[in-house]
Amino acid sequence: MTYFNDMQSVGRNVSPRTYYFVILCLVSYIVLDFALHHSGNSQCADLVFDAAKAKAEKSIQEGLVLQEDPICDSVLGHLNSEPQFPVARAWNQMKWIGAPAKCKVKGHLIESLDVANNFRRGYALKYVGDVEDKTMVLPWLYGTKVDLNKRARRVYLDLGANAFHTSVQWFSRMYPCDFTEVHAWEVTNGLFRIPTPAFNEDTNWSPENSHSTRVVDTPQVPDWMTDRIKLYNAYVADFDGESTVNITRFMKEDLKLTAEDTVVVKMDIEGAEWPILERWVNDPEMADIIDELFVEVHYKHASMYDFQWSMFSHSREEAHKLLASLRARGFFAHPWP
Ligand SMILES: *[C@@H]1O[C@H](CO)[C@@H](O)[C@H](O)[C@H]1NC(C)=O
Repeated sequence: MTYFNDMQSVGRNVSPRTYYFVILCLVSYIVLDFALHHSGNSQCADLVFDAAKAKAEKSIQEGLVLQEDPICDSVLGHLNSEPQFPVARAWNQMKWIGAPAKCKVKGHLIESLDVANNFRRGYALKYVGDVEDKTMVLPWLYGTKVDLNKRARRVYLDLGANAFHTSVQWFSRMYPCDFTEVHAWEVTNGLFRIPTPAFNEDTNWSPENSHSTRVVDTPQVPDWMTDRIKLYNAYVADFDGESTVNITRFMKEDLKLTAEDTVVVKMDIEGAEWPILERWVNDPEMADIIDELFVEVHYKHASMYDFQWSMFSHSREEAHKLLASLRARGFFAHPWP
């Protein structure tokens, strides 16, 4: 009772000015809070933007190259391509798709170079019995990050094409770009055959299910696509000779490829890639021309002797360094299985 009486007397003794003061404080708080948390976002964004702009201007004045991490301009940055962030131990064996590399290429994430698994993760972890498996490269395709269809000329070069289904078919089906030209190089006569279009896309529909598209036969290669394929029976090399073609000269002078074109290159030429890639590492024009490069780098390592790789001379460490050098020079380069 005593307490109740005290409270009542306190209430009675407060002057109206105090009430006005408290109300004023509350209203000010609400107005301030609104200003800071709602319209305040754009102010924060401006501040961040100004800071970035000031930093960029300072770098330009000082003649520095703008880079999130300057080490990524060096071969070393790409050699230590293990992920930067802590990943669970299960990542080492559970995940078919590896972690992204520490350094980006062309501003985009790319897979870390999986040297210990011979760059063939799925095969090494026994997820698949096929050494040619390409699953691990799928999430990292440059064409999923940049729309390569926006350029008028879209060229796919398959250097060491083997049979049609080996890789030209894979790129035609799996790569998110509608190539306007396919240049397939295969030195073994008769191995690569441009398929005969034996099917008509327009009549390959089944009326069974009117709610969805259903085709009658597995879609094969239509003639509009085979018309775009050109076959070359010559060795892909770094020099012009009787049976060899200097592929760098061919791309620049014969095909007249430029940075304006979409250019995707797959290379699997049994060791002949070394002099070509060593040239490309030191040729910034090639780094600009080629949007994405897939290459099987051949090396001598006991773990690959089952595949007759004892005949190659470069070491696996050198192969790793070559891939890292390509990435450091701006090639969006992947090991090809
Ligand atoms: C191959 O072609 C490139 C580009 O034209 C040229 O710079 C290079 O010297 C050629 N290679 C050889 C071994 O001549």
